[in-house]
Amino acid sequence: MTQEKFANRIAIYPGSFDPITNGHVDLIKRGIRLFDEVIVLVAYNPNKSYLFSVEEREQFIREIFSDNSGVRVDSHSGLLVDYLKSSGASVILRGMRAVSDFEYEFQMALMNRRQTREVETVFLMSGFKWFYSSSKLIKEVASMGGSVKGLVPENVHRGLMEKFNRRTGSRV
Ligand code: PNS
Repeated sequence: MTQEKFANRIAIYPGSFDPITNGHVDLIKRGIRLFDEVIVLVAYNPNKSYLFSVEEREQFIREIFSDNSGVRVDSHSGLLVDYLKSSGASVILRGMRAVSDFEYEFQMALMNRRQTREVETVFLMSGFKWFYSSSKLIKEVASMGGSVKGLVPENVHRGLMEKFNRRTGSRV
């Protein structure tokens, strides 16, 4: 079966990306097979405090997708629906891991839709390999010296080691 695109559609993939993980990377790569452009949006979640600055998070993503013209990286500190309106996009792309993600994602999708009927949230199931991993757990494990190799891209791995003052070659 051929992969049919949503005709001329831009999808916004918003998130904290603190930091971007291999699970996010997998989702972006799959998203780009469905949409003409995926804007990876480093957005502000007022319920979180961040390890990496917005600039650092954007930089990681830019480096990872430097060869992919279908991926754009941006940041936004206001309401997601306002960014959507100004960008001309009408699709929000989100990943769904386990059942535990469902309630949070469902609430956000409906709240965004309540604000503008122009938006649809499209969910992709998380890749099987990444089902259990999250930025939060990765940071926790890395901060205590555990191994997160293979769960994050190389540049993020280096960034984590620097943040937690660990040397290359340490378990992290
Ligand atoms: O990776 P996260 O933290 O789960 O992503 C959540 C995020 C950043 C997408 C969400 O908090 C968001 O949309 N923030 C922008 C502000 C906004 O529009 N809030 C209302 C969401 S219904």
